Amino acid sequence: MSQEPPGGPPLRQAAVAQLLGALLAGTLVVLFFPAWATQPLILAGLQGLCAALVSHLRRGPLWWLPIHLGFMPLAVLALALGLPSWVWLAGFVLLLLVFGRTDRSRVPLYLTNAPASEALAGLLPAEPATMIDLGCGDGGLLRRLARARPDCRFVGFEHAPLTWAWAWLSCRKLPNVEIRLGDFWAHPLDRYTLVYAFLSPAPMQQLWDKARTEMKAGALLVSNSFPIPDVRPERSVEVADRRRTRFHCYRPAGPGHSSGYRPGPDGTGTYPWIPSRP
Ligand SMILES: C[S@@+](CC[C@H](N)C(=O)[O-])C[C@H]1O[C@@H](n2cnc3c(N)ncnc32)[C@H](O)[C@@H]1O
Repeated sequence: MSQEPPGGPPLRQAAVAQLLGALLAGTLVVLFFPAWATQPLILAGLQGLCAALVSHLRRGPLWWLPIHLGFMPLAVLALALGLPSWVWLAGFVLLLLVFGRTDRSRVPLYLTNAPASEALAGLLPAEPATMIDLGCGDGGLLRRLARARPDCRFVGFEHAPLTWAWAWLSCRKLPNVEIRLGDFWAHPLDRYTLVYAFLSPAPMQQLWDKARTEMKAGALLVSNSFPIPDVRPERSVEVADRRRTRFHCYRPAGPGHSSGYRPGPDGTGTYPWIPSRP
């Protein structure tokens, strides 16, 4: 449901570079280096070079270059380990169950740490509230928040089946947490006081459009690390953790009538439940 990058899904672009790299390497070997045809590791190295070149010419991201360079040589080396074939199948299925949708969502799996969870708890209003974690991963954030705020209700959406199962199992004894399997883009945001997103730069514009259409006045959108392009946050919160996590806080539908909003001289204003900047 996420917007597609120019050139198609990243996995397709990577596969095209690998295939064209193999064709180019094959042609070079047939025409100029026939003796290399019996040297799998040299062939794989040449294919990696050609794939990286094709990716670069097709304006693929720079960080793909080492992946293209190493993919086939590492595959050849791994084959030499002589592992039983089920190991490869099991590894593939495991990766598919966790990262199978990353190609389209362009949101990988990384988790909100404990200090950031604590800081987020400080952004919840003092009165009972409802919060959603868009892409809740292993549910660790919701577990911590649900224990800290038994008066609030927490919802998590996750579309990776294995990650969802982990989150569901680990939250099943918490009565104020609901973990749902599915795509959060299809879920309306109008019932939440706080919407939390820890995604990637790719879907931020789309998230802003959705939040502005669906969130109710006064509700808070908190994005961990990734700002909405060209939108000034109501405020930013820096967490004192090792990675210097930053929350970008927005009010997509503007201040609510009952939210206690206090307009400030610079036009941004404050809300009573958000602690002032130290
Ligand atoms: C960066 S992780 C954040 C995990 C969790 N929110 C946290 O902060 O610890 C993003 C998660 O969102 C999930 N995700 C990405 N797009 C999604 C979508 N459209 N619907 C449901 N889950 C999604 C990914 O599978 C991944 O587990």
